Amino acid sequence: MCGIFGYVGKRNDGQKLVFNGLKSLEYRGYDSWGVGVIPEKKNTIVVKKKTGKIGNANVNDLPGGSLSFGHTRWATHGGVTDQNAHPHLDCNGEIAVIHNGIFENYEGIKQKLLKKGHKFVSETDTETLTHLLEDISKKEPFTEAVRTAFNQMEGLNAVIAVSTKENLLVAARNGSPLVIGFGKNENFLASDASALLPYTKEVYFLEDNEMAILASDKVTILNVKTARKIIPDRRKLDWRVEQGGKGKYEFYMLKEIFEQPQIIADIASLGASQAKEMAKIIREARGTYLVGCGTASYACLAGSYLFSKLAKRHVNFAIGSEFGYSLDFLNKDSLVIAISQSGETMDILESVKKAKNRDAKILSLVNVPGSSLYRLSDHKMLIMAGQEKAVASTKAFTGMVAHLVLLANSLNGGVRKGQKSLMQAVGSMKHVLSPGSLKKIDKLAGLIVGKKHVYVIGRGLSYPASLETALKIKEISYIHAEGLAAGELKHGPLALIEKGTPCISFLPNDETYGANLAGAMEMRARGGFIIGISHKPHEIFDYYINVPDAGESTIIPEVVVAQLLAYYLTMRKGLDPDKPRNLAKSVTVK
Ligand code: G6P
Repeated sequence: MCGIFGYVGKRNDGQKLVFNGLKSLEYRGYDSWGVGVIPEKKNTIVVKKKTGKIGNANVNDLPGGSLSFGHTRWATHGGVTDQNAHPHLDCNGEIAVIHNGIFENYEGIKQKLLKKGHKFVSETDTETLTHLLEDISKKEPFTEAVRTAFNQMEGLNAVIAVSTKENLLVAARNGSPLVIGFGKNENFLASDASALLPYTKEVYFLEDNEMAILASDKVTILNVKTARKIIPDRRKLDWRVEQGGKGKYEFYMLKEIFEQPQIIADIASLGASQAKEMAKIIREARGTYLVGCGTASYACLAGSYLFSKLAKRHVNFAIGSEFGYSLDFLNKDSLVIAISQSGETMDILESVKKAKNRDAKILSLVNVPGSSLYRLSDHKMLIMAGQEKAVASTKAFTGMVAHLVLLANSLNGGVRKGQKSLMQAVGSMKHVLSPGSLKKIDKLAGLIVGKKHVYVIGRGLSYPASLETALKIKEISYIHAEGLAAGELKHGPLALIEKGTPCISFLPNDETYGANLAGAMEMRARGGFIIGISHKPHEIFDYYINVPDAGESTIIPEVVVAQLLAYYLTMRKGLDPDKPRNLAKSVTVK
């Protein structure tokens, strides 16, 4: 969470470049934004910071400068106010800090600084660091002061600090991501390499406990604990800059939903050899664990069904934030398959590091090459869904499931069968995305948009589909939705069904059909408004959405219906599906 962008170099409009960089990082947090600049030949830091999304704002009122830094915030400490937005300044306005993470022990340090007479103007943990730097830099050179201060910070953090006395960006990382971009007589820093692509493709991903000192013509990397110099292993990114923005679509989410048939077709053809390769690793492991967070966790859960059904293999499933508490039995023969769109989600990184400490092997399936999870894995697979910008994940989810379909099929020597079923899913998705079907889903949104609660049931592979449906509806339309294993209905949730409650039932053409129909009937008997998502209509449905059968890949088009329903609900409520309140795309705090 929080986007960081820094520039030092030959341009004298660094503030504009930083502002543009922030726009591409805004998915990381959009509670507020801020840009700081040191104007040419002036011993001062000028800051502009505002609450809310960047929208149509600009930085035309900031002076030009060749050293600038900016931040998009996802609030942790302190409310969403201009005052709490970053950058934060010290008492004299000579030191500025931007920060991603949580400065866990800031309170004790703040109390000491208050006693020394420092004046605090925000409620943030970050401001403590600016005053701490002010204090230490009275005795130490600024770069050394940053190192000393960072070593006092507990928690997982990334910071950039600047001082009017030096023409340097000084950064340090432990936990939260930071990437250095190398230019010609200019250097860059960002929380995500994709933000650097318009300027340079030569990068270094800062590792934990490393700090970087960036001048326009030189970058020095040090171990933050020992001050030992590190020769950076620069990489050349072969990513292309995503063209076209939203194209003909009003929102990224809709664009990304429509990209799915092509992505799944590409995975079906390009992912097979990789799946065969990775199947060998899974076969050799004694104990395999699928781990992910949010939407990715539902892909993992789907994976556990696919591995059981297709490969007759027991694969455990765990939520990233919980896995760390239940992995004491891992050993060198264990395999953790960590799935993440961003590859930066702290909850998954933390548990994967714990698994590594127990010598388990890590196989990651990520969408962002070069991400932290990608780098710390023993074996790597790319989702190949292209950059996903909308906060609510769509194409990354279906991409994850598609790779799992190939993997599970490869384990029993049937990768071709997997490819075939994915191509069926492509056909089914195209049907779901056809004009008639879109109209029906939009009409359904109109029927339920005024409701307070939605219940979604499924069994087998449609159970993770139900969970993902509920999550999509909650995330962007703010309607309370609950996904349930249909069998659990009678163990409690049925008490909540009353006349007119929307009840979505997944009824694919598999072994779950009959039992799930029974669940839908139970809800109908209590007055529920039954929305059947199935390959065929049924008289008990009050509303029917057709999803053509795609074998074990049917979960893919099922979820596309859910994505569209959530999107249309959001449109009808006049909300922004790309940047839902309180959320962020990359969650780099615990
Ligand atoms: C955030 C996003 C979700 C995503 C989750 C896990 O909460 O808003 O859409 O599913 O993080 O993200 P990851 O990048 O690890 O897949």
